[in-house]
Amino acid sequence: MPSPVLLSDAQVQQFICDGYLVLQPSVNPNIHKVIDEKFSWLAEHEKNPGNNITARLPELNAIIESPEVRGAMISLLGEDYITIPHRFWHFREAGKHGIFGGDDEEEFRKKSAKQIIGERSHQDGYCPSSTGKSHALQYLRFMYYSHDMTLENGPTHIAPATQYNATVSDEDRERQIPVIGKAGTVFISHFDLVHAGSPNKSDRVRNMIKFLFTRKQNMQSPSWDHTSAKWKTPEQHSSPYQIENIWEQQWNWLCNQASNSSKNSLNENFEEPKPNLSTKEMVSFIQNIGKQPKAINFLMSQLNTTHQAVRSSAIYALGTIGKDAVEPLVRAIKQSEAPGDTYERLAGNCITISDESHALNACGEHALDSISQLLEEKNAWIQINALHLISDSGQSNDKIEAAVLQCLKSEFDIVVSFAAITIGRIGNKKSIPYLLDLFNTKYSPENFDLMVNKLSPNAWPNEWVIHFNAALSLLRLADQADEYEANISELLEHPFGQVSILIAECLKVIGTTSALRRLVDFYHIRRWDDSICAQKSF
Ligand SMILES: [Fe+2]
Repeated sequence: MPSPVLLSDAQVQQFICDGYLVLQPSVNPNIHKVIDEKFSWLAEHEKNPGNNITARLPELNAIIESPEVRGAMISLLGEDYITIPHRFWHFREAGKHGIFGGDDEEEFRKKSAKQIIGERSHQDGYCPSSTGKSHALQYLRFMYYSHDMTLENGPTHIAPATQYNATVSDEDRERQIPVIGKAGTVFISHFDLVHAGSPNKSDRVRNMIKFLFTRKQNMQSPSWDHTSAKWKTPEQHSSPYQIENIWEQQWNWLCNQASNSSKNSLNENFEEPKPNLSTKEMVSFIQNIGKQPKAINFLMSQLNTTHQAVRSSAIYALGTIGKDAVEPLVRAIKQSEAPGDTYERLAGNCITISDESHALNACGEHALDSISQLLEEKNAWIQINALHLISDSGQSNDKIEAAVLQCLKSEFDIVVSFAAITIGRIGNKKSIPYLLDLFNTKYSPENFDLMVNKLSPNAWPNEWVIHFNAALSLLRLADQADEYEANISELLEHPFGQVSILIAECLKVIGTTSALRRLVDFYHIRRWDDSICAQKSF
């Protein structure tokens, strides 16, 4: 296999600002035509194979394993990054404006392309994990076009530099730009980047395939072609606002280095800004506050409600203040309330944790004691905020680890689910039996009926969401899991295929002869003859 092409410091810094990266994989260019023709054949003869697409189109692996794509993944997620079982082929028929050419086609034809893109602008939900959005670079979305993508044939649109946004604003909808390029174009983005589909006005089908990747562990050291530890803002970037403090924090986190912000306050007797500042002026004002505890009340008043660039600046300005900001932030988190739909359903939910939680996270080690207190609160919203910020930063201590294990026994499924993810980020060998215990939950008959008999999309029973997160954590800890091989092997037959796939990956990492034998036997039964199709059964 050729060596991966790693990103440079400048490319990683560009990604931190813009939230995306466009690549051209160095593969035989004929492969794009082969893939495109196979897509057309599938569209004509079969249904969308969903997560099973690579069994039908193994050529896609050449794209994913190309030196440029592998190099970008290693650079941004670490050498041992994980490929999520979910992948999806997004095709749009020739001349169709609706998403899948369905009943909404008539309605969409009455609208302009700009209007459609604006309406479709969204941030994806973490399915089936149902976790929260992350400022830290935890998940990446990969998109690939098998044919030349022009403005006419329905390119994906993106709103650059929106990956740290809590929601999609009208301004984001206005800023959408098309991702176009020749056949073979790959587009990699932070999972929370705002994006949208667009109408296919051409006379050919539009093909795009999406894959998802996540990191196995937080960065121990830079995994890209790294030369300088100092953050350098790119000369040109796509953000309308200079939100330097969030960019520098993400850079430091990726470099696994302490924040070296030595910005002291320019204003010893802090004075609030003049009224009626523009957003840009307000961002600049906050970015220059520095380590000024007298600004805490003002900064906290900017959280959750104001313009996103102001919110983001205030979050990380509180992080710069650090120790003195912890107590007021914890008080605010304790008083915060879950958005109305938080507990409606687990599967398909998209959680946005509070700005105060992001700010507490940015306070670094000063916040650790308070985080373990938050975990002990008997309030699911407070607990999931605390769990998510631990999961994002990877910061922990013995007390936090014990409290997270305790959360696995919560009466709230959502708390158990978040704790199951968090253990994979901070846990160790001792946590593995706790994760295995989660698989002893019995499926409730009505949940099982919903999934197996009614086949509702996104309607996974809560147990399966929890099991998915537990399996992902087992995979993150798999290199310490040798002695649990037998217990993990038993989970290979899990009825939720995405769990089964993660468990198979665990066995691969465990790598003993017996684990590999079990894998071969399992996949031997599920072998696939690529020459078989609906028209030819033998
Ligand atoms: Fe999407």
